[in-house]
Amino acid sequence: MTQENVLEALKNVTYPGFTKDIVTFGFVKDVLINGTTVGLTIDITSSADEVKAQLRDEATVELKKLGFEQIQINVTAPQAPKQMSNSVSGKNIAPHVKNFVMVSSGKGGVGKSTTSVNIAIAMAMQGKKVGLLDADIYGPNIPRMMGVADQKPEIQGNKVQPLKAYGVEIMSMGSLMEPGQSLIWRGSMIMKAIEQFLRDILWSELDVLVIDMPPGTGDAQLTLAQSVPVTAGITVTTPQEVSLDDSRRSLDMFQKLHIPTAGIIENMSGFICPSCDEESDIFGMGTTVPVAKEYDTEVIARIPIEPAIRVGGDTGMPVTYHKPDSETAKRFQEAASNLLAFIDKVNAEGGADNSAVQPTTPPGVSACSTASTPTKSQDHSSNGCGCN
Ligand SMILES: Nc1ncnc2c1ncn2[C@@H]1O[C@H](COP(=O)(O)OP(=O)(O)OP(=O)(O)O)[C@@H](O)[C@H]1O
Ligand SMILES: [Mg+2]
Repeated sequence: MTQENVLEALKNVTYPGFTKDIVTFGFVKDVLINGTTVGLTIDITSSADEVKAQLRDEATVELKKLGFEQIQINVTAPQAPKQMSNSVSGKNIAPHVKNFVMVSSGKGGVGKSTTSVNIAIAMAMQGKKVGLLDADIYGPNIPRMMGVADQKPEIQGNKVQPLKAYGVEIMSMGSLMEPGQSLIWRGSMIMKAIEQFLRDILWSELDVLVIDMPPGTGDAQLTLAQSVPVTAGITVTTPQEVSLDDSRRSLDMFQKLHIPTAGIIENMSGFICPSCDEESDIFGMGTTVPVAKEYDTEVIARIPIEPAIRVGGDTGMPVTYHKPDSETAKRFQEAASNLLAFIDKVNAEGGADNSAVQPTTPPGVSACSTASTPTKSQDHSSNGCGCN
């Protein structure tokens, strides 16, 4: 019996929730054979006990079929994060979702959607129930990147079923509109759409909902922060100074909106050459560390430019799933682990709280109308109202 026989047999064991097998994922390691005894390690990314047990059982069955009598399978997995809780205060219009993660950036085109997709898939591979909401209403890219661009969601009454790919639930304005259509909407309509995405989509009881934001600090960001307690904010930036200036605005926004900052993802940081796998410095590397320090946070991952990322995005075959052995997939997995650890820490310390960003006036009453009505002779500008 050879290692090849063992690996071939273990290709019949698929990873729970996925169509891919544990050998193709690269999880099977250290195969040792001695007569009718075999020992091996299955090094998985999920910390769920059911996943471990299922893989051990199925692998044992396959190895017995090959004639092995003594089978030792060591399943290694990351430390199980503590039970995540929704111990939050303030308004929450999607209470069945335990944690919300806002992926933001000051500048467009720096890799927010790419990061959102790959981190969401990585967390699903680590055993979490994950959703991915494309809140970029004007420029929805998630359906293409997740390979569901030609699917339409099912409507149930006045609610909508999310789409599903790579173990992740998905919703996007792109999935509700005809391809190529544009939206010309006022800010108030964007705010309404974000609320509906949270309230009227039939999300499961999710551990984490990753929300891919439009660039900048506008209506979408404010609406999200006022609708649900956002557990963690991630800022994506490229290493150039011009991008860093904008990412400072994004980090400042997290502070103003009372969103705990999980950290910065430095994207397009160095270049991995597809022919030699060498990493070289193009836009600069490591420039985000001082910015992270300024805002008392961390760089949770440095993702190099790798052509496979762009190809994965364009073809709906994200690297984290389709090239799990690539350097960038490993870094997205690491970013996901860091994010989950951060979410645990926030919850252990009492959870996210958005009560400070709620409007102080009752619904339907503008801030102006709460000021005592000035008499005709009063000067409007002197009462601080400013709405004359
Ligand atoms: N590390 C990387 N290596 C190679 N290509 C990348 C990398 N990161 C992102 N890209 C590519 O760069 C383009 C822009 O990325 P993406 O759409 O994720 O940015 P964005 O910040 O969401 O943009 P927007 O602000 O327009 O929503 C995409 O084609 C994507 O595939
Ligand atoms: Mg985007």
